Amino acid sequence: MRTTNSLLVGALVGTAAGVPLAILEARQNASIVCAPIPSPFPTWQQYPVQKSLPDPFLPLKYMTSDNAGGSSSFASDVMTGKAKGRITTKEEWYKCRQPEILQMLQEYQFGYYPDHSQEKVEATRSGNTINIVVTAGGKTGRFRATVTLPSGASASKPAPVVINIGGMQNAPYLSAGIAVAQFDYTSVAPDSNSKTGAFWDLYKGKDIGTLTAWAWGFHRTLDGINMTAPEIDAKRVGVTGCSRLGKAALAAGLFDERITVTMPMSSGVQGLGPYRYHGLSGQDETLENSKSGAGWWSNSKLGTFVNHHESLPFDAHTIAAAIAPRALVADQGTGDQFVDSKGTSIVMYPAAKAVYDWLGVGDKLALSVRSGGHCDMSGFTSILPFVQKIFFGTATTKDYTSTGSYGAPMASAFPWSTAAPPKA
Ligand SMILES: *[C@@H]1O[C@H](CO)[C@@H](O)[C@H](O)[C@H]1NC(C)=O
Ligand SMILES: *[C@@H]1O[C@H](CO)[C@@H](O)[C@H](O)[C@H]1NC(C)=O
Repeated sequence: MRTTNSLLVGALVGTAAGVPLAILEARQNASIVCAPIPSPFPTWQQYPVQKSLPDPFLPLKYMTSDNAGGSSSFASDVMTGKAKGRITTKEEWYKCRQPEILQMLQEYQFGYYPDHSQEKVEATRSGNTINIVVTAGGKTGRFRATVTLPSGASASKPAPVVINIGGMQNAPYLSAGIAVAQFDYTSVAPDSNSKTGAFWDLYKGKDIGTLTAWAWGFHRTLDGINMTAPEIDAKRVGVTGCSRLGKAALAAGLFDERITVTMPMSSGVQGLGPYRYHGLSGQDETLENSKSGAGWWSNSKLGTFVNHHESLPFDAHTIAAAIAPRALVADQGTGDQFVDSKGTSIVMYPAAKAVYDWLGVGDKLALSVRSGGHCDMSGFTSILPFVQKIFFGTATTKDYTSTGSYGAPMASAFPWSTAAPPKA
């Protein structure tokens, strides 16, 4: 059977049942005219150098240097929210800018997500194992997922689910009435340049990053759950993983509107760690060293920005903002030497929050700063109350806006926020 598409990207666009009507209407509204997305996409040389985080409200058309018109203050205007052409309404965000961001991120970082409308997904279940078979273009890719149900889950009382790769703390989630599903990410795409596994059996030769391949694995797992596990409510779905797998969980949330809550743990650069302000804590993961150490995570285009990351027209906050109005929670450990936890907390988070707040969904963007190191399993209990709030509406007194010991947001990193467009 063919599943319905759930991507919201331009031609790939499809919609999930949970998308608010106002957003669906805005996307259909012919009287909202969008700035055209530049075609071809600009090169790094065509963007101004931006030392602070790019203005998420400014369409790409107005961010390129050919709009400078001889103005010596162009780069500064772009950074401070004074450039012309910013979007001004929520409807423009959802119809114009959000799809543009999704296309831009595929162009410059993730590679283009495969056209799901051309895929046929089949799934069979045996006990707790779901066998997933995807065919496209005459090729076949297969992998397996497993599900663990909380007690009491049934077709008449289906449980929400968190899909993870690389393992998570299952027990507190199961106790909270949340199912846990998992697949072996290496059977979808190995963490290397070798193009084996279900994803590459279908798409070998395409310039797509492995983070996108793993995101696809999450989505096809959800298809399989939806087809074979009536004890699970496929409309309340979390995705998680840590470190490189946290980057993948972020991609999974970004590219599928069926994902209710995106839960990247200690995700770092290409996740929720900013490319700019990368050295604020501990070991310094950067565009440059992540691209040279594991170039396969992204497409080849991202490589053209190596040593020019300040020319990127986006940063981690842009990725986060594009997930709104859906929920996103970032787990960060203060003892983590591997990712820029401080940058995620005082730079990325408040910048993305400015967009979530402007859209009226500020309570959907959460930051969880905890003690402990990289991929410390305590991160899963740390974010659980937020996940319960999203899945069940359970109230929590925990403050998911706190930057903890990192202190005040670094306002100089997102100067455009004080010039936020007028409320729609
Ligand atoms: C379409 O957008 C215009 C301009 O923002 C607005 O006035 C109108 O009410 C919208 N129409 C619908 C059906 O939402
Ligand atoms: C589940 O499958 C049905 C039937 O194909 C489809 O209409 C629905 O959108 C799917 N739901 C999810 C969450 O994938």
